[in-house]
Amino acid sequence: MMNRDQEDCLARVGPGSRMARLFREYWVPAAVSATLEADGAPQRVRLFGENYVVWRSTDGTVGFLDEACPHRGASLALARNERNSLVCIYHGWRFDTAGRLLEAPCEGANPRLQAFLDSVHAESYPVREGGGMVWVYLGKRKPAPAFPLFEFNTLPAIHVHAKRAVLNYNWLQGLEAHLDAAHLGVLHGSTVVGGGSNDRDVDLAVKNLSPKMEMDDTRYGMREAALRDMPDGFVYARMRQLVLPCFTMVPTAPGSPLSGRAIVPIDDEHTAEWYFIYRIEAPVTDAEIHRLWKGSDPDPRDFAANLGSPEDMWHQNRDAMREGHWTGLTRNVPFEDFIVSSSMGVRTNRAKEHLGMSDAVLVHARKALLDAIDHFEKSGEPPWQAGVDFSTIRATTRRLAHGEDWRPAT
Ligand code: FES
Ligand SMILES: [Fe+2]
Repeated sequence: MMNRDQEDCLARVGPGSRMARLFREYWVPAAVSATLEADGAPQRVRLFGENYVVWRSTDGTVGFLDEACPHRGASLALARNERNSLVCIYHGWRFDTAGRLLEAPCEGANPRLQAFLDSVHAESYPVREGGGMVWVYLGKRKPAPAFPLFEFNTLPAIHVHAKRAVLNYNWLQGLEAHLDAAHLGVLHGSTVVGGGSNDRDVDLAVKNLSPKMEMDDTRYGMREAALRDMPDGFVYARMRQLVLPCFTMVPTAPGSPLSGRAIVPIDDEHTAEWYFIYRIEAPVTDAEIHRLWKGSDPDPRDFAANLGSPEDMWHQNRDAMREGHWTGLTRNVPFEDFIVSSSMGVRTNRAKEHLGMSDAVLVHARKALLDAIDHFEKSGEPPWQAGVDFSTIRATTRRLAHGEDWRPAT
């Protein structure tokens, strides 16, 4: 069990916190690419308890700056977006995507105007687009570390579909839902099968509630296998990848799009959960998008905007439960995860947990994160990056013979 200090260390992600100092050393998704139009409305982004603005300028370049205007702090999310720049609506200061101050119209009487313009800089951060997401690096290293070329980050835009959900709970709670492979057959038992997986293996897997969990540390984090004995004598192995600190690649049924998640801290009490599906050879289809996100909010910036709350019990449908649906949370699989995590409160009390063998991955990952913070503070080197070929990290499933090793399949 973690003590309170360790738990605080992992859960606290605000300015100056130990976890945030490490986390900022990784590229993270920050905005949905398609929601940013050239010369369109800038968007506020909150990450690690601090506020930023992201926008697409006239030539299509994406800029990412501190939200507060360096003049007197007005929000640059209110700014005009024109002529390849953001123009603060308060006094008209104009900034380019690099954060340079180009104009300050109220300073016309200043005899040293150019020197003044040169002396002011809006803090700007490196951005990249990939997988339908705008990614940002908020860390201190210059140059920024290499952008992680996950396979979904190098595919044509129509081969990937990414959405973001905003949840009112601490990021660790979000991550731990995805480290917990054992709940598949329980929590999602009705929604996965009823969701039309058309996959006999998945249907069988959700009938075996006690998989044997095995895991290995890797350069990028961890890989793990949930091994389920099947009635026909095979072992069904679902092998996931945990790219720490915040990505998981989740196995899907053969023929379905591949799938991944990113769990990104907004602040101590809010989390952005990114879901993306992708195909290597072909576009993802509307039917596949609809199947995963059935009943979710149409806003790609927050597809959980209609999740519900404790007041309405997150729209749990007791009639559906009487008719055989396990959770009564009939809309989609991500919502089942979001709702159980929300039901724990903004931050669950881990001192009251009773963890079992099926929680082994979660325990292992907590320790890996704590060790990473120590390692980073001593060495200045964030783990899980050097020498990693992100393009090869994929989740998968296999039918194995008894005693056959799952590792070669990853
Ligand atoms: S506060 Fe932005 S220009 Fe004055
Ligand atoms: Fe789940």
